[in-house]
Amino acid sequence: MLEVEALHAFYGKSHILQGVSLVVGDGEIVALLGRNGAGKTTTLSSIAGLIQSKNGAIRFAGRPLQDLPAHHVSRAGIALVPEHRGIFKLLTVEENLEIAARKGSRWDMKAVYGLFPRLAERRRNGGGALSGGEQQMLAIARALVNAPKLLLLDEPTEGLAPVIVDELRSAVAAIRDAGVPVLLVEQNLAFCLALADQSYIIEQGRIVHHARRGEFAATEDVRERYLTLG
Ligand SMILES: Nc1ncnc2c1ncn2[C@@H]1O[C@H](COP(=O)(O)OP(=O)(O)O)[C@@H](O)[C@H]1O
Ligand SMILES: [Mg+2]
Repeated sequence: MLEVEALHAFYGKSHILQGVSLVVGDGEIVALLGRNGAGKTTTLSSIAGLIQSKNGAIRFAGRPLQDLPAHHVSRAGIALVPEHRGIFKLLTVEENLEIAARKGSRWDMKAVYGLFPRLAERRRNGGGALSGGEQQMLAIARALVNAPKLLLLDEPTEGLAPVIVDELRSAVAAIRDAGVPVLLVEQNLAFCLALADQSYIIEQGRIVHHARRGEFAATEDVRERYLTLG
């Protein structure tokens, strides 16, 4: 479904991604793990068309994407939920969803409130009154009502309490089970191991490890070398 091949990306003269290749198959959750500064966000930004200074190939459902601007990538069905969530603080939860909703999405208001009951309780509250976890849920819900064919999640669990992380884990599994593949950027290894069908580790702009479900947990040395422990 999504194929990234030998992707290079630059910020000005800084050569950040140095040949990233990864595949997200139909109905899969694929984790991209790595330390701070490894190039995870840059990878997502490149796929989403937010970074234009890049080369290599990005294909989505067989179509080349690498030269398209962000609004075209979004129209093709790729939804990025960025690290800083970007919800509208002066709008209510419901209004945030309404302005993102696309007709014919299988995820309507009822479906996203079913997925995130906390949002249903908070539907009349302003975006600015939400907790960090609720904001993350709203950001994901907003992507869903826009009928995505692929979801890109950038560190959804960062800074959130364990009980909220559990709710997000169930929700991300349910999204995959409903047929929307997910490319999940994380530093939370346990969260990824619980969810991912495949995992990649990125370090200094290069993929240094790849494992399928079940293979990853055994490789202690990989964790120690490439990931932040704890
Ligand atoms: N806007 C930017 N301009 C210049 N360098 C950047 C910018 N954003 C990120 N970088 C650099 O690119 C590298 C990768 O960053 P990033 O993709 O954000 O890492 P991660 O998401 O894995 O923490 C880091 O060295 C970071 O300092
Ligand atoms: Mg990042």
